[in-house]
Amino acid sequence: MGPMTGIGIEVDGIGLAVPDGASLLTAVRAAGTELPALCSDDRLSPAGSCRTCLVRADGRVVAACVTPASPGARVETATDDLACLRRDAVELIASALPPRALTVDSPSELAHVCRSMGIGPEAARGADGRGEDDSHPYVRLDRDLCIACGRCVRMCSEVQGTFALTLVGRGGDTVVAPGAGGTWAESDCVACGGCVDTCPTGAITQPGPARGLTSGMRPAAARTLTTCGYCGVGCTLDVVTREGEITAVLPARDGPVNHGHACVKGRFAHGFRTSPERLTRPLLRRGGVLEPVGWDEALAHTARELRVAVGAGGPDAVAAISSARATNEDNYLVQKFMRAVLGTNNVDNCSRLCHSPSAAGLTASFGLSGGTDSFDDVQRADCLLVVGANPVEAHPVVGARLLNHVLHGAALVVADPRAVGLALHADVHLRPRPGTNVALFHGLAHILLAEGLVDEEFLRERATGLPELVALLDDYPPERVAGITGVPAEDLVAAARLYGRAERPAVVYGLGVTEHLHGTDGVRSLANLAILCGAVGSDRGYGVNPLRGQNNVQGASDMGALPDVLPGYGKVTDPAVRSRAEDVWGVPVPERPGLRIPDMFAAARTGDLRALWVVGEDVCATDPDTNRVTQALDACPLVVCNELFLSETARRADVVLPAASWLEKDGTFVNFDRRFQRVRPAVPPPGEARTDFDIVRALAAAMGADLGCATPAEALAECGRLAPVFAGLSHDRLDREGAVPWPCPDPGRPGEAKLYTRRFATPDGRAHLAAAPYLPPGEEPDDAYPLLLVTGRRWAHYNSGSMTRHGGNLALDPVDFLDLHPDDAHRYGVRDGERVAVESRHGRARLVARIGERTAPGQVFCSFHFPTSGVNRLTSDHADTVTSCPEYKVTAVRLAVP
Ligand code: FES
Repeated sequence: MGPMTGIGIEVDGIGLAVPDGASLLTAVRAAGTELPALCSDDRLSPAGSCRTCLVRADGRVVAACVTPASPGARVETATDDLACLRRDAVELIASALPPRALTVDSPSELAHVCRSMGIGPEAARGADGRGEDDSHPYVRLDRDLCIACGRCVRMCSEVQGTFALTLVGRGGDTVVAPGAGGTWAESDCVACGGCVDTCPTGAITQPGPARGLTSGMRPAAARTLTTCGYCGVGCTLDVVTREGEITAVLPARDGPVNHGHACVKGRFAHGFRTSPERLTRPLLRRGGVLEPVGWDEALAHTARELRVAVGAGGPDAVAAISSARATNEDNYLVQKFMRAVLGTNNVDNCSRLCHSPSAAGLTASFGLSGGTDSFDDVQRADCLLVVGANPVEAHPVVGARLLNHVLHGAALVVADPRAVGLALHADVHLRPRPGTNVALFHGLAHILLAEGLVDEEFLRERATGLPELVALLDDYPPERVAGITGVPAEDLVAAARLYGRAERPAVVYGLGVTEHLHGTDGVRSLANLAILCGAVGSDRGYGVNPLRGQNNVQGASDMGALPDVLPGYGKVTDPAVRSRAEDVWGVPVPERPGLRIPDMFAAARTGDLRALWVVGEDVCATDPDTNRVTQALDACPLVVCNELFLSETARRADVVLPAASWLEKDGTFVNFDRRFQRVRPAVPPPGEARTDFDIVRALAAAMGADLGCATPAEALAECGRLAPVFAGLSHDRLDREGAVPWPCPDPGRPGEAKLYTRRFATPDGRAHLAAAPYLPPGEEPDDAYPLLLVTGRRWAHYNSGSMTRHGGNLALDPVDFLDLHPDDAHRYGVRDGERVAVESRHGRARLVARIGERTAPGQVFCSFHFPTSGVNRLTSDHADTVTSCPEYKVTAVRLAVP
């Protein structure tokens, strides 16, 4: 046994050590003794109000939850008088509740405590009468079961940061209520489920079969630990099932990113799984109509038509869009199929549309295509610079953790045209005109240099490109940058000082940086700030960290579902990289880089692309300039689509293959801070739906090829043989250790959570400053199109909405809004709630006006969660000059008569 560390303490005669700052309750539990603790939750600050956790410490009776463990303390828990005091406290609480609070089958923590103390239902002598609030699809309040412990209120404020709940009333009448009055559904609640998960009595529950289940309970039904399939945060979730159906999805207390928290999507939005609209049989187009067929027929037809396409136009006449929603192993097989079976590099994934500028920019600046630091480290930063991201809505668990960190004292600079959730708590909110990021970042860099806030030693020893950048920055004094961006010069100075003077700053950014005509320049100019301050790859800060959009957009790219790189980012043009893959696959690997997604559509329109396989992307809803995307699909002789639902894209396909969802799959995802995490099937796919992994293998077999890799575990192992950065990863290891970040070349060593501590991964080992001048966006407002449209996400929905619109989330957010400023509403005579048409040079959409000050005058905002609104008919096919990432964030539009 090693030496004891932390605070030495004695509990009922047992010596043990607990970490500094631990409470006596933690110490008692560490000693293996259970205490009732009805107002306590490890995720929350202690309240010490219920008095059910009484112990004696050094002779004094104290509440264990609020008493810090002190060195040498002697704690007693087991004496008769203490047991009596605790029992009295529990009985007093129970006595105010109606008898149904303690029924023998009640799963609540209070009922469990009472049963363990021998307190029967007769102890509950209160009456019903305060009523219920069942206005919300996911949260039900039974006021008569509330004991006013305040756990829900603290969960909402301390963990979620929404502050939607409060305690109202006095004395025994105290009860939780939405803080703004009115019903729960009308409140600010964002349905993270935190209150449901912490409530100890069943006063706040999820309606339906999950009622009363919380993450703190011992498993009573089958549970499957998996990784959320919504955004790129990578929350660990515990899926509870009964008789093959999901009854609840709970946040895992030890989830490495979510720490026992979740959001409305991962927690509740699984109703899509059993939607009657779910695809359960393959469909084949005959006589212009999609008809159900068997798998053999669908696969044989697809294989035959693929051969026809290759026969007519060669392997490069076929392309695949792989899926950022699918597992690593699915993506690995899709790109292997395209390269090894068909002989083309025509494979891409939707990172093309979101973070391809991050991949290009971060690789050029630092050497690898990923964020530089772990999110745990980011949460240690004393200054956060959050740019072009709205994590409170788009990555809610990260948003909650960032907000929590700010509320505990970290400085916050937000750079975003809109007043996004975090901006309300920012020390400085910079609101640049959309499309002017590069000028903004240069303006900040100019001030860092001018005020001597740079790390000269770091620049000398570990960076390159300084003279060129210094020369460029001469042209970006604050006054000029203010003119370009619309950000006041004094705000630029304040922001630069906060970041530059911080001891350990961190940059977090989103699609507001990448989805621009010069998105890669934006990433690189943003990375300049961290390099100038020596705040990357060092102990002087926590680097530059992109918030990935989709659950596995990092992994889809890592696995080589890209036209120019193989798994692990080796270039297809590099003979050594190809030869390593050829050794493993036993076939030649094509040398010429393949088509990017926009090029695939262009090739389809010209007739050069004869077959397109779309694996789980609704390109007709999410890709820009939809009218031209649909033209491409209509022109392509064979379109094959793996899907959950008959999406806009599937409707145009010739073959639709019903696919399993993330809750029905085995494999791994890579989250936004490069952690590989296991995905495990909690339930089988419905009907005849199959996993993408099985579909790819079956299609290969139908073409007479054997892809090997009988299981996802074998696929990841094979990937590790091709890509040294993944060689240390395996399903077995992830099952044993939980999350493991890449690079991870060695099965016996941990992965690298923080990158570049010794050298950058660039050819010369240095960080590369970029000196790219500011260039204007592809579209500017003019007299004909006077408003700038920005698109993004809203909290209740996700991407094209195919999963969140099939379930309760639609009740939370049923309408596609166009947000506009009151000045513009007045100027164009638009009333709140009125239907409006929006027109751009590319198309027209219909939305409902929502007037507010979150958008700046002259700008409008909408999501793309409702394909029928046609928002992406508006967006242009302007794209990042380096990566072809579309310029979603800047489209000139006008309002028109609907
Ligand atoms: Fe300690 Fe409530 S749990 S006083």
